[in-house]
Amino acid sequence: MQNLKLNPNLLTVPTYIGGKPIEEAQEEYGLTDVVKLGSNENPLGPSPLAIAAFQAALKDAHRYPGVADRRLRQKLATYYNASLGTGFTEQNFLLGNGLGDILRMIAHAFLFDGGESIYCNPTFPLYPIFSKMFGATPIAVPHDNFRYNLRAIADAITERTRVIFICNPNNPTGTIVTRAEIAAFMLRVPPSVIVVFDESYCHFVDDPNFPNAIEYVQEARDHVLVLRGFSKIYGLANLRVGYALGTRAMIEYLAHAQIVFNTGDPILYAAAAALDDDAHLQATQRLVRTEREFLYQGLTELDLSFVPSQTNFVLLINLPRDPQALTQALLRRGVIVRPMGGFAMSDAIRVTVGRHEENEKFLRAMREVLKAK
Ligand SMILES: Cc1ncc(COP(=O)(O)O)c(C=O)c1O
Repeated sequence: MQNLKLNPNLLTVPTYIGGKPIEEAQEEYGLTDVVKLGSNENPLGPSPLAIAAFQAALKDAHRYPGVADRRLRQKLATYYNASLGTGFTEQNFLLGNGLGDILRMIAHAFLFDGGESIYCNPTFPLYPIFSKMFGATPIAVPHDNFRYNLRAIADAITERTRVIFICNPNNPTGTIVTRAEIAAFMLRVPPSVIVVFDESYCHFVDDPNFPNAIEYVQEARDHVLVLRGFSKIYGLANLRVGYALGTRAMIEYLAHAQIVFNTGDPILYAAAAALDDDAHLQATQRLVRTEREFLYQGLTELDLSFVPSQTNFVLLINLPRDPQALTQALLRRGVIVRPMGGFAMSDAIRVTVGRHEENEKFLRAMREVLKAK
């Protein structure tokens, strides 16, 4: 490699470490029964409507992607127009190969000239990763009692600031910032700074103070983007599709960073079908709400501290043991959780809300591990 000219930006980028796959845990520990509570996936699986749509579209797998991209964008416009009374069209939406791909497009489009991005630690690691990849400087401000610290972000804005990432609800803390906080914050953001609302987990929120960030797009603010995906509540994490919602002008510009045919028609038809399956969405919401309470109760009985969550995961803090050791011990008992080192929080563990029997297995394993000194 010493003869090659390498991109110095890439050399600053750590490799993203994803949640451990079930098969890997099975192989490493000789286990058959493994529950995965490490990646915030939908415990109910995909919607049957999505599976059927995917399968039906496979017969055209030999063709390049066709109209499915436009169909899904039209469907999203109809969905928001019906539920929020917006006047969106397909041109307000851009599809990506998961939200990770959308975040990459944003970084490519706006963080190319050595500018700065701002976000709050701990949060989703792709914000600093993509910022560095395209040569920008990511600026992290500390959280405020596990909540995104909007005041500190506004204070950190300089003339070099290009993009602000707001993860709402925040991964990995599970907390939200409210409508009033966002309103006060937006008054301090100049129109030259992009505000990205990453709402990957918005469908799990039941706090009535959750903001409607889409309003800012309705107000024709070009510098606001709302991101939502199909990996979480819609149960399609493996199919890789997510979208950005913005003004027509913003979306048209962002599309310059899109890779042609960035996702396939079976995936897009599956996503469109998932949008139709309200029963699946509601069943997931019900399960997560009930099981989150069950987890809280079990954790409290074990004397473990956690941050109350508005999402399908719970952050365990102030652990009585080293989080890495705890994660390994749980793994040996067939439970995958996520140590938070990669999220700039080396003293915490995140656990996804699973099905009842999965959560029971997690709590049982945790009890055993804590007992075995
Ligand atoms: C806050 C947040 N944003 C974006 C993503 C990326 O999601 P996707 O699977 O759509 O790429 C995740 C995935 O965990 C996430 O937690």
